[in-house]
Amino acid sequence: MLYLASDHAGYKLKEVAKEFLNFLQIEYQDLGTNDEEMVDYPDYARKLVKKMNPKKDKGLLFCGTGSGMCIMANRYKKIRAIVGNNEHEVLLGRAHNDANVLCLGGRLTGENGAKKMIKIFLDTPFAGETRHKRRIRKLDIK
Ligand code: RB5
Repeated sequence: MLYLASDHAGYKLKEVAKEFLNFLQIEYQDLGTNDEEMVDYPDYARKLVKKMNPKKDKGLLFCGTGSGMCIMANRYKKIRAIVGNNEHEVLLGRAHNDANVLCLGGRLTGENGAKKMIKIFLDTPFAGETRHKRRIRKLDIK
């Protein structure tokens, strides 16, 4: 399953993402927030990662910059969240880091850029090479 969540600053870009996912006929669950009334991004990042099975689900998080959501999401084991600043970064985030959460900044990222990064995030497989697997294993501190 693909989960989406945002704070107030990411709400509009989340709505754009939903429209795009509808167009692509990709199933998702929107975990809120549902308007632009001020909320706290850690609450929504937590809600999303708690719903996710990190081995098979993916998440899209939206706040003003993407940073706060990313910091919070990465506090959870097996979550590998990246901030999407450009397409190349997202491509390598999937291929090398097996990123399972993409965080986008509603105040920094345009609609078209966001759509392109979402598509790359969903379409790019993990490269799976031994060195990447080994490095990913080292991310989870016991
Ligand atoms: C909210 O004003 C803003 O701080 C938040 O959306 C996000 O950018 C934090 O990283």
